[in-house]
Amino acid sequence: MNQTERFEIMEKVKSFPGISGAVSKIFSLLDDPDTDASRIEDVVRYDPGLTANILKMSNSAYFGFSGKIGSVRQAVVLLGWKRTAQIVIASCVNAMMDEPVSGYNLQKGEFWRHSIAVSVAAEGLVKELKLPDVEKIFTAALLHDIGKLVLGAFLKKDMEKVEIEAARGVSFEIAERNILGTDHAEIGAMILKNWMFPPGMVSAVRWHHDPDSAGDISVLTDIVHVANVLCLMIGVGVGREGLRYKPSPLATKRLGLTTGHLEMVASQTLQWVDDLSDMFV
Ligand SMILES: [Fe+2]
Ligand SMILES: [Fe+2]
Repeated sequence: MNQTERFEIMEKVKSFPGISGAVSKIFSLLDDPDTDASRIEDVVRYDPGLTANILKMSNSAYFGFSGKIGSVRQAVVLLGWKRTAQIVIASCVNAMMDEPVSGYNLQKGEFWRHSIAVSVAAEGLVKELKLPDVEKIFTAALLHDIGKLVLGAFLKKDMEKVEIEAARGVSFEIAERNILGTDHAEIGAMILKNWMFPPGMVSAVRWHHDPDSAGDISVLTDIVHVANVLCLMIGVGVGREGLRYKPSPLATKRLGLTTGHLEMVASQTLQWVDDLSDMFV
């Protein structure tokens, strides 16, 4: 890694597309107890592409109201606030996350599918472990690897070094750090920070490969970490990251996670992914 490259990476983070203004409005609406369905409709009303995506996603089998939702207002009524907010955010990032990510060897659609898989696996783990509803888990999980969209182009230039690191058998984020002086988790956290996402979500993205190093140990981070490992184990969106991941033993202990829980969620994740991603194909 040289200083010029680091500078270029940071410039790319700064110029990374902003998330639609709709999302920051939605975060503030979520914190407002007086919010009603019409206000979320107001937020997306002038963006027909976004509205179409929201309706497609709301009608997926995963959310349980397949084919019954005809308007954003109806989505809020049937799915509730939190769900609709998650769907709006996912609809905003769908286009940028559906593209191939070359340095990571992820073909078109693979990055999105992996991200969706980690979201549904994270929700599956929350249910399986009977954890209190972990707010924002779906969105944190969906965006956990967003830093790859910045680092992919830099890794592509350094492919020879990537191969050397891979041959040494180091984990992928260590290889990124050795070559680029940063990794996709750190870059992803910067992007979410720039998007003004809540600190808990920024931290979950930052520490998704290393939850034990997080300053604030949290269920959100532990779950995103385990869900990501689980999806790599079952082979969704693996790309260049390989199959050498295991969940952190400490995170496993903190969550009270057993092999039974993992197997149960793993067995259902692929079906959930199909239920959720079908309409974007
Ligand atoms: Fe990752
Ligand atoms: Fe991942």
